[in-house]
Amino acid sequence: MIYVVGSINVDLVMKTSRMPSQGETLTGERFFINQGGKGANQAVAVAKSGSKVAMIGAVGEDDFGREAIRSLIDFGVDTTYVCKVSGNTGIASIWLADQDNRILLDGGANLKVNETMIQKGLALAKPNDVVLLQLEIPLTIVLYTLKLAKEKQMMTCLNPAPMINLSQDILNLTDILCVNETEYESLVHQKLDIHMPIFIQTMGSQGVTVFHQKHQFHIDAHLVNVIDTTAAGDTFIGAFIARYEQSKDIQASTAYANAAAALCVTKYGAQQSIPTKQDVVTFMEVNHD
Ligand code: RIB
Repeated sequence: MIYVVGSINVDLVMKTSRMPSQGETLTGERFFINQGGKGANQAVAVAKSGSKVAMIGAVGEDDFGREAIRSLIDFGVDTTYVCKVSGNTGIASIWLADQDNRILLDGGANLKVNETMIQKGLALAKPNDVVLLQLEIPLTIVLYTLKLAKEKQMMTCLNPAPMINLSQDILNLTDILCVNETEYESLVHQKLDIHMPIFIQTMGSQGVTVFHQKHQFHIDAHLVNVIDTTAAGDTFIGAFIARYEQSKDIQASTAYANAAAALCVTKYGAQQSIPTKQDVVTFMEVNHD
């Protein structure tokens, strides 16, 4: 079983031909609303890759919250441990331009995730179950979850996004760390020890490098038509964890996640752009992965 502890957002997305300059008003090309949030996206990626997953998090008592839960259920995520709290559901205002994105976040209900919610959510967790975290909920809760998960002999996985200053305590409780290039640079800048059992560095079009004990390998990125990079990182880590839980094969899981992330960027959106296991397997067969 995989437990994702993290954020649930509604993404308000505007596509534009270029990013507006300071003080400038620019007319966008297209507006749409997506179900997103790094935690929720990762839970959906796990579910679409065929593993059992429960989401632990919070939404507001508003229409956005109801929609967010509906989306998770539709994609096969167990929402028993998603709490409704006063205030608004997390909102991400996303600008898309130049094959990239900029995101402005209002944490809302995500900032109200607390220790009681984590205790209830992980009450039935067993040794070797997996807990997957990001950093869109309070850092104190991330640390609390990692400690509780380790007491329960669970496998812990952290995707430190969006990156903030971290303590070594957090990394010492992490079995699998997955970072992009910016997050990696920040960890180095913070002089943190990143020698955990599995360290994964994703590098967009440069592919992915994995360090495991004394071994290291690299997998090139797939050349695809990039439409929207939102949730590519979430797709990678969710797909990796699902496949790793099923196979315990790091290299095969990395190749699978690499293909899943490549497919994700060929579509607009967050949760709806995450491919299913069948999509990924077919893509890998066609690309002789
Ligand atoms: O990683 C992508 C996600 O980051 C978006 O869905 C948005 O909600 C932000 O949290």
